[in-house]
Amino acid sequence: MLRIGVLVSGGGTNLQAIIDGIDSGYIPDSSIELVISNKKNAYALTRATDANIETCIIGRKQFESPAAFDVALADTLKTAKIDLVLLAGFMAILGPGFFTDFKNKVMNVHPALIPSFSGPGYYGLKVHESVLAAGCKVTGASVHFVTPEVDAGPLILQLAVDVKQGDDPETLQHRVMEEAEWKIYPEAVRLFALGLLEVRGQQVYIND
Ligand code: GAR
Repeated sequence: MLRIGVLVSGGGTNLQAIIDGIDSGYIPDSSIELVISNKKNAYALTRATDANIETCIIGRKQFESPAAFDVALADTLKTAKIDLVLLAGFMAILGPGFFTDFKNKVMNVHPALIPSFSGPGYYGLKVHESVLAAGCKVTGASVHFVTPEVDAGPLILQLAVDVKQGDDPETLQHRVMEEAEWKIYPEAVRLFALGLLEVRGQQVYIND
C-alpha cells in the first residue's frame, strides 16, 4: 500500500482528482493518509474531511525560520510513514532540509509547460495572466518531481492545452485544470504506484 501525503493551500481540485483516482481504482493500492495545509481556511481541508482523510495545519509563521518549517513538515510526514508527497496547489517553497528523506518522492503539478512560465513568482492565476500577456496560442500543465530549485525537478508528464481567443486568466485556468492537470496528476501518481517511474538525472523514464 502506497501511503500518500498531500500538501495544499487552496481550493484542492487537484487533491480531489487524486481522491477520485484512488476511489475509482485508477490509482492502485494507494491511500491518502494525511492532508497538510499551510492555510487554515483552505477549501481543500473540507474536501479531505469529506473523504475521511486526516488533516493538519502547519503554517510558516508558526516557526522562526523557513528551515524549521521544512523540518516540521518533513517530520509530520515521516511520523505518518508517508511514501509519496504530493504538492497540490501548495503555495510555499520547500527548502533543501525537506528533501533529506523524500528524494524523488515529492511531486508537484504546475499550470504551464515547464520551463515556460515557471520558477519563483509563477503560481496560480499569475501563470495564466503571463501566458495571455505573452500572446501564447498553446499552454498546458506539467507534473514533475520536486527539488529545492523551484519548478526545475525532473518532468514526469506534460500535456498541452489550447489558449482560445477571448480567454481571461480564469477561463484559461479552468481549461488547463480540466483538460490537463486533473488528468496528468492522477496518471503520474498511478505510474508511481505501479513502480514504473525511474529517475536518471534530469530524465524520468516510464517503464512498462
Ligand atoms: C493549480 O492550478 C496548480 O497547478 C497551481 O495552483 C492551482 C491549485 O488549484 N499550482 C501552482 O501554481 C504551483 N506553482 P487546486 O488547489 O484547486 O488544486
